[in-house]
Amino acid sequence: MKYENLLITTDKEVAIITINRPTKLNALNKATIEELHYAFKDLGKDKKVKVIILTGSGEKAFVAGADISEFANFSEKEGAKLAAKGQKRLFNFIENLSTPVIAAVNGFALGGGLELAMACHFRVASHNARMGLPEVSLGVIPGYGGTQRLPQLIGRGRAMEMILTASMIDAAKALEFGLVNYVVEQEHLMDLCQKFAGKISNNSPVAISYAIKAINAGFNNSINGYETEIEAFGSCFGTSDFKEGTTAFLEKRRANFPGA
Ligand code: COA
Repeated sequence: MKYENLLITTDKEVAIITINRPTKLNALNKATIEELHYAFKDLGKDKKVKVIILTGSGEKAFVAGADISEFANFSEKEGAKLAAKGQKRLFNFIENLSTPVIAAVNGFALGGGLELAMACHFRVASHNARMGLPEVSLGVIPGYGGTQRLPQLIGRGRAMEMILTASMIDAAKALEFGLVNYVVEQEHLMDLCQKFAGKISNNSPVAISYAIKAINAGFNNSINGYETEIEAFGSCFGTSDFKEGTTAFLEKRRANFPGA
């Protein structure tokens, strides 16, 4: 597929998706959301890709939100459809992807931009990053999972404060809140993400996909996370990765996981 709004590079086992609408601070329009869906779908199917890093182009923004110009005239029905489709096609899709996704938050991550970063498996930010869910200042609420994922990540009280005040927090506060795992200078952001990607790539892709599934299950009210963990744990024993991992350990060598 040819992407108009994304740049995708793959280097060995790591793919980088860069949202590329810098003049609009990488705001998520409909086309970009669709392209992201297909990019994650394709890279998720590619067995050579062990980790995906998601970032925004330019030095100013990760993503400054959903494209306000696209939904300003929507009806109630259209609004609900926008949220439902976006959650299904992109935000839940990333969260449940078997391939780990790291958000490299290189500037503003606002509204849908922060929701996008929160749908990723974890987040690393540069010092200039500013994060917030300013939707109530526009007369709307977060609709791409923000009211759910923000309290999960930072606790209900802090999420209430951020959403109700519509204020932005800086990178240091985001680190303190646990919204991002690390904060570094912008020029080191991608290197640090690559470092994590390298560590992840050494591990069993199958076990990693089961770990993601089990962790996510604990945040899904309709599933028992402990049961999911038991099932996934058992499934690992039937995989070639498990055989290789345990054999390599006993033979005192590094595992070379087949990814099956
Ligand atoms: N949707 C659509 N366009 C957006 C956008 C968004 N969420 N965020 C920024 N842009 C556009 C601006 O309209 C502007 O386009 P223009 O040059 O054609 O006028 C361009 O990106 C640059 O933004 P600008 O506001 O001039 O930059 P700034 O440095 O003065 O301010 C922000 C940066 C992030 C504070 C400001 O852009 C902003 O508040 N954006 C909206 C954030 C928001 O409410 N997001 C939640 C949406 S639900």
